[in-house]
Amino acid sequence: MALFLLIQLVPYGRNHSNPPVVQEPNWDSPATRELAKTACFDCHSNESVWPWYSNIAPASWLVQRDVEEARAEINFSEWTGSAAQMRKVDDLFEVVEESAMPPVQYLLLHAEANLSAEQRQQLLEGFQRTFQ
Ligand code: HEC
Repeated sequence: MALFLLIQLVPYGRNHSNPPVVQEPNWDSPATRELAKTACFDCHSNESVWPWYSNIAPASWLVQRDVEEARAEINFSEWTGSAAQMRKVDDLFEVVEESAMPPVQYLLLHAEANLSAEQRQQLLEGFQRTFQ
């Protein structure tokens, strides 16, 4: 208990900022955006929803690190279509095809982000129309 209280004092993990949305991809349809929002935006956008446990260490550290790393990889709120970003597009298709994203630990707490095979196919085709 003492340790639990003590780790709450670590400053890391409490900066739950959502910077402004700069520019989103030119989505092929609202349905594609909706699927991406449901399954990806909590980590890969500036519109993260921060649940109550994201304020409590050690969960807060894991959530903070996930969001920082994910935004650094791909941020749908800062999508300018730069060459560096376009190089990530293949990975984007791949993780959807292979069900490699969202990460398993996230799905345990977010059942709605666990896309059905059909939704995955829709998201993949939506990504392809949006980014190719
Ligand atoms: C719980 C947070 C979280 C969610 C939700 C999430 N991701 Fe990620 N994603 C990460 C993290 C963390 C990384 C960087 C570390 C890694 O590669 O595992 C990452 C990396 C990636 C990468 C680049 C690395 C690679 O494996 O090729 C792609 C592409 C990606 N995510 C796509 C998606 C898509 C598409 C969705 C929605 C279907 C999604 N992610 C949902 C956390 C998340």
